[in-house]
Amino acid sequence: MRTSRTSDTRAAVVCGLGSALPGRLVTNDDLAADMDTSDEWIRTRTGIRTRHFVEPGTATSDLAVAAGAQALGSAGLSTVDTVLLATTTPDRPCPATAPLVAHRLGLTGRPAFDVSAVCTGFLYGLSVAAGLIASGSAEHVLLIGADTFSTIVDPQDRASAVVFGDGAGAVVLRAGAPEEHGALGPVELGSDGSLADLITVRAGGSEQRSAGRRPTRADAHFAMAGQDVFAHAVTRMAEATRTVMNRVGWKTGDVDRLVGHQANLRILHAVAEQLDMERERLVVHLDRVGNTAAASIPLALSHACAAEELAPGARVVLTAFGGGATWGAAALTWPSLDR
Ligand code: COA
Repeated sequence: MRTSRTSDTRAAVVCGLGSALPGRLVTNDDLAADMDTSDEWIRTRTGIRTRHFVEPGTATSDLAVAAGAQALGSAGLSTVDTVLLATTTPDRPCPATAPLVAHRLGLTGRPAFDVSAVCTGFLYGLSVAAGLIASGSAEHVLLIGADTFSTIVDPQDRASAVVFGDGAGAVVLRAGAPEEHGALGPVELGSDGSLADLITVRAGGSEQRSAGRRPTRADAHFAMAGQDVFAHAVTRMAEATRTVMNRVGWKTGDVDRLVGHQANLRILHAVAEQLDMERERLVVHLDRVGNTAAASIPLALSHACAAEELAPGARVVLTAFGGGATWGAAALTWPSLDR
């Protein structure tokens, strides 16, 4: 497992936070009107009550720009050195969406690129941002996690269609000192490509195009082996969290808030159980927004911040599992933010 941490003298410090949800609120009953499912099944098996879907004509970049602008405002900045966009639902397969987002944020000319690690994308992005800052390549980095899974999920696939929602969240990181509130500590990342089939969109890439096959309806949509994903997610998130806690010297009781990828409430509860952590320490936001993939962690942070669940100096661990398979965890103390 690859690990990274910011240098001892120069840390990446969170100094801005933003979020954006599309306007169309979709309840479990709305889904049950078009599919063989029920509010009761979705609530008890996933913990999700509502999610937001984009309207036709709204793309991932639109949500990313809104969240990014809010994060820049919260940081009191009009410019940054680099823009990173974690997403699995770019506006187009080519080019990356980050340059367009940077342009629309008035940051034309800045380096901007996409990070592709599905639901772990935000943590992979944090690691890249921390590295850019630690090496002195950047003073300020805007990291956005944005996804519109409603555009790739088959609305008739009840295993996936009830789980996902659309949204975007963003943070600004600046160069600072490791002992400051908001400083990012170790980031632990991992992957296992032998599990690539667990979470996939089979069509649209070089594999299918070079074979000249016409994509079937199933191949063109997102597909997930739900139960296997569930099991791997619990194991990997608990393991990565433990590693990060060891590296930063925190015991389970020292962690004020665990912000796990918001995929399924039962996954979060199982992770807490493996860590011997009270459920009260979990940040839970999926009941309102579902699984928003790369946006999941920054949206949960925005929610917890607005609900005053995160006091300055609070010890926070972030953890995620996603397609690839990919996983990770990161430790930080919570900053004092203008929102
Ligand atoms: N509504 C009603 N019934 C449903 C249903 C739905 N939306 N989806 C599945 N079912 C049925 C199944 O057909 C099955 O019926 P059966 O027992 O008669 O065969 C039963 O419910 C149980 O299905 P199962 O797939 O075992 O459900 P589950 O408890 O594993 O829950 C997920 C399914 C997808 C919610 C769950 O596996 C999950 O959350 N996985 C992780 C997903 C995730 O987080 N992915 C993102 C990447 S990190």
